[in-house]
Amino acid sequence: MIQTLDLSNNNLTGPIPDFLSQLPDLNVINLEKNKLTGSVPVGLIERRKNGFLSLSLCANPNLSGNVSCKKKRNFVIPVVASVAGISILLLSVAALYWGIKRKRQPGAVTGANPIIAPVEATKRQFTYSEILQITNNLKRILGKGGFGTVYHGCLDKTQVAVKMLSPSSVQGLQQFHAEVNLLMRVHHINLTSLVGYCNDENHIGLVYEYMENGNLQAYLSDSTPVVLTWEGRLQIATDAAQGLEYLHYCCSPPMIHRDVKSTNILLNEYFQAKLSDFGLSRNFPVEDGTHILTGVAGTPGYLAPEYNMSNRLNEKSDVYSFGVVLLEIIAGRPAFINTHERIHISKWVGLLLPKGDIYSIVDPRLERRFNVSSVWKAVELAMACVSKNPINRPSMSQVLVELKECLATELARTKQSGNHTEKGNSIEMMSQNSIAMLRPSVR
Ligand SMILES: Nc1ncnc2c1ncn2[C@@H]1O[C@H](COP(=O)(O)OP(=O)(O)O)[C@@H](O)[C@H]1O
Ligand SMILES: [Mg+2]
Repeated sequence: MIQTLDLSNNNLTGPIPDFLSQLPDLNVINLEKNKLTGSVPVGLIERRKNGFLSLSLCANPNLSGNVSCKKKRNFVIPVVASVAGISILLLSVAALYWGIKRKRQPGAVTGANPIIAPVEATKRQFTYSEILQITNNLKRILGKGGFGTVYHGCLDKTQVAVKMLSPSSVQGLQQFHAEVNLLMRVHHINLTSLVGYCNDENHIGLVYEYMENGNLQAYLSDSTPVVLTWEGRLQIATDAAQGLEYLHYCCSPPMIHRDVKSTNILLNEYFQAKLSDFGLSRNFPVEDGTHILTGVAGTPGYLAPEYNMSNRLNEKSDVYSFGVVLLEIIAGRPAFINTHERIHISKWVGLLLPKGDIYSIVDPRLERRFNVSSVWKAVELAMACVSKNPINRPSMSQVLVELKECLATELARTKQSGNHTEKGNSIEMMSQNSIAMLRPSVR
């Protein structure tokens, strides 16, 4: 099943074929640095807009329409590097497509759901010794969490992150195969992909797409050398909201994340955000104080209050957790703030709100470089998300609409004030030693 098509730098001519937009599993197309002509097929533009496709079209001087020039993403796995002409390759893609279609036709289960793709034929299960090879004997630790330790690895030439579950997390995993196979078929540009796993006796590991810039919390902490701009923060929030909305409304059956928190929002080399660990907390028990010990769900500080009463979670519980993250993004403070007492961020903001002073809430490191209405709107949205009563919380689709409005307002400010530099990437300097974002602004 073709998911990635890299035809960059191939001197390709002619228009982009329409049928590419009909390949449901294709989620990365790189056609940069060619001589393509005509306009970009509407289907591709739509799929990119809806977050199903990363489409790179830069450096095609004769291509008209919606061409945004993003920096080339290194994590794209090159499938085809040396093809003389687009026609040969595209014909083979077409042949493959028709082959797949024909195979799927009788009683096709997957056809009903374009979101969950069929399991790939490529190898996805690894032995423990292969994991040791991939991670160079578990050499570089990327982080530790409730489920175990995450290591850096290389699979072929692609970087990966390998999460080895701790022995206590390994107990009671009868459903492992079924669940992992399901999770490996969930694809969205704002979800960290699970690309493989290891289930060798007591060694259970999950192999994920590597996210170069680690977790969001690190960029909101006091010790961060990099200060994210307000625009950058809104982009990250929008990305994460898109991932969550996808789990809630586009998966069949719908998925509740259950552990939305700022360390589960990971950033790639362009600071594009992807939600991670979806589906984990339901299936895996956890070992330490950062998680609820029953292993059923969540992390203190992010867990919706209804969980204490009913032990049940639904989409609105994820919205609560997302609201906490949004407050962290706005205030640049953790879910629990240590003033003279330990206070939850929602309470802290709630106490400051009546004063009407946005500057007392917002991260001082933003140095007043933001559109005030954009921040106010985000604060109101976040506070609605953390409403005690789930009924009063917006859906993730509503959250997304509002976040995009906040972003549009802020973008209008940056454009107007002229401190928005566009040279393929938008880079906004916050202060002498703090840069904000190195990512394309038009997405
Ligand atoms: N796919 C990944 N790419 C890069 N770093 C990762 C990846 N997954 C996890 N990490 C890093 O490892 C840390 C620990 O991850 P995890 O075990 O999920 O615990 P937690 O989510 O509680 O931080 C994360 O906070 C993150 O910094
Ligand atoms: Mg995590």
